[in-house]
Amino acid sequence: MKILIVGSGGREHALAWQLAKSKHVTRIFCAPGNAGTAEFCENVPIPVPDILGGGEDKAKENIANLVTFALQNNIDLTVVGPEAPLFAGIVNAFEASGLTIFGPTAQAAQIEESKAQAKQMMNRAGISTAEHRSFDDYDKAYAYIINDCVFPCCVKASGPAKGKGVIICNDHLEAENAILRLMARQTEGPGGATVVIEEFLDGSELSGHYLCDGNSVLALPFVRDYKSAYNHSSGPMTGGMGAVTPIIIDSHRKCEFVPWFIKPALKQMQDMGMPYKGVLFPGFMLTIEGPKVLEFNCRFGDPETEALMPRLESDLFELLMATCRGTLDSVEPKWSTAASCTVVLASGGYPGRHAIGKVIEGVEDAEKIPGVTVFHCGTARKDGQLVTAGGRVLAVTCLGDDHSLARRGAYEAIKKIDFDGMHYRTDIGESLCRAH
Ligand code: AMP
Ligand code: GLY
Repeated sequence: MKILIVGSGGREHALAWQLAKSKHVTRIFCAPGNAGTAEFCENVPIPVPDILGGGEDKAKENIANLVTFALQNNIDLTVVGPEAPLFAGIVNAFEASGLTIFGPTAQAAQIEESKAQAKQMMNRAGISTAEHRSFDDYDKAYAYIINDCVFPCCVKASGPAKGKGVIICNDHLEAENAILRLMARQTEGPGGATVVIEEFLDGSELSGHYLCDGNSVLALPFVRDYKSAYNHSSGPMTGGMGAVTPIIIDSHRKCEFVPWFIKPALKQMQDMGMPYKGVLFPGFMLTIEGPKVLEFNCRFGDPETEALMPRLESDLFELLMATCRGTLDSVEPKWSTAASCTVVLASGGYPGRHAIGKVIEGVEDAEKIPGVTVFHCGTARKDGQLVTAGGRVLAVTCLGDDHSLARRGAYEAIKKIDFDGMHYRTDIGESLCRAH
């Protein structure tokens, strides 16, 4: 079977790495891939629609080129990593050409594309989430902040912002500044034209991943992502600076995630004429009142996928194909009981402006440490040398018998790696080690 993976980050590297182990898979193409996927896949230089650039026409052209490539190369399964091509209708276009593709249609992907719409869907479906108001008018948002808002609150760009459109605000001034940035200046892109202002939820976070085939739901193990740039939840929001799995839910907070959150969301989507297929990835906050949904994503998490994939002991191709074919009820994946810890190494300045093209050293040495795999996020080859090519550069992952061993291995591996400006959090998985 021939696979096409769409995207170029650590998530796509991890998916390709796991698919390469499948007994069914003979060839893997990555469009456009990165220096990590180039080592065992065939990278194809077809650009992929991006959230912040290009416009609708460019996105359509990119998708048409991907369809042509898939048809010409008899691709059996296309797996889409990032959200932007899903928003732009890649699944609709592939399916219209009779190609098998893993992911939701553009209509169903709105569950992530518009936080305002997702909130509406959750309210209709009776899904527990933070109280909120949506605004597309700056003056109305401002008046709400001055007169009615309770602090702390969370101001979010309703549209796509690569995980950087959420600002936690402690007072009026911070909230005013947030709407100025997101709505008026659109510093995170046009997705800030509408904002959602919502109640701040206190608790610990949890990423869920659910394969949905139109009938059945298959839950993957929980992962914890670390979203802020610096240790102990300080600094600006990022796409994710690390991830750990498994996460054991305290018994008093236990609830039935599939019947309480996933099934109602799928039913509501179906009723709204946008049936969901692919992986549904809710971010939960475990509050003292129980779990609440922070957001729904329409794809695999990054870096959650880098932490999760090494624990999968079954054939990923079979799981993804069963999702596409509507036969998920016939598969039962096996997961290693080992713990997995992923630490992201980022470029200096990330999540803000950052340089690229810095030489990366030590990846091979890092991978000699038992249990360690280094997934490439933003890397490229220049004159034979491995160089940085993005904000998040590498996702250093280690499997260990428990969280302490996994964490220790990941940080040992990081000691071997270096590039100019490299920064990373040193607290990934720390609290889990203390708890166990
Ligand atoms: P989202 O894109 O909505 O998942 O938000 C990104 C991150 O912002 C989440 O993972 C949380 O860390 C934080 N966040 C979002 N909404 C809230 C909220 N209502 N209360 C507290 N933190 C939040
Ligand atoms: N790590 C969070 C995300 O992929 O949205």
